[in-house]
Amino acid sequence: MATISIFVGSVYGGAERLSDEIIEVIEQSNHQARLITSPTVEDVKVASHILVITSTTGKGEIPDNLLSLYSELNSQFPMLAGTPYGIVAMGDRSYGDTFCAAGRSFDELFRDLQAKPLGHRLEIDASEDFEPWPVTEPWLKQWLTKLPK
Ligand SMILES: Cc1cc2nc3c(=O)[nH]c(=O)nc-3n(C[C@H](O)[C@H](O)[C@H](O)COP(=O)(O)O)c2cc1C
Repeated sequence: MATISIFVGSVYGGAERLSDEIIEVIEQSNHQARLITSPTVEDVKVASHILVITSTTGKGEIPDNLLSLYSELNSQFPMLAGTPYGIVAMGDRSYGDTFCAAGRSFDELFRDLQAKPLGHRLEIDASEDFEPWPVTEPWLKQWLTKLPK
């Protein structure tokens, strides 16, 4: 069984709704989900498993509720040697080069901090997938198979 610390970045609530569905499946799979609502660097440092679920806003920006976490991780640069993580990035391909940029930024930062990606980053394109859950569910089930039983 794994305890997964969940960090959610959302502007209009889409990523929050998706995180509720993700948490339900995690708990049905006999793992524990810990939703971190006011995230700090310490929350990341003590996490045994990390899942970031984030939309992208502005021109490729990180939503406000994850932005200070990102900036502090970037400046404090704590090594997360081997901490397994996953990224669910919500975006819209019509934004071009900044498609899912917030999720990509976290992915790159975690790699730089030596955390360990569990599988590939999920990128959800709102211009194609009007409902995020049908693409998230198979990704999540696959991701959960990589966790300790
Ligand atoms: C003002 C605004 C700016 C956005 N900028 C981007 C962007 O740069 N890149 C991207 O992939 N998606 C962008 N999006 C799309 C959102 O990331 C996408 O709709 C997401 O599902 C919203 O999730 P949320 O409701 O949790 O905020 C933008 C949406 C809005 C409304």
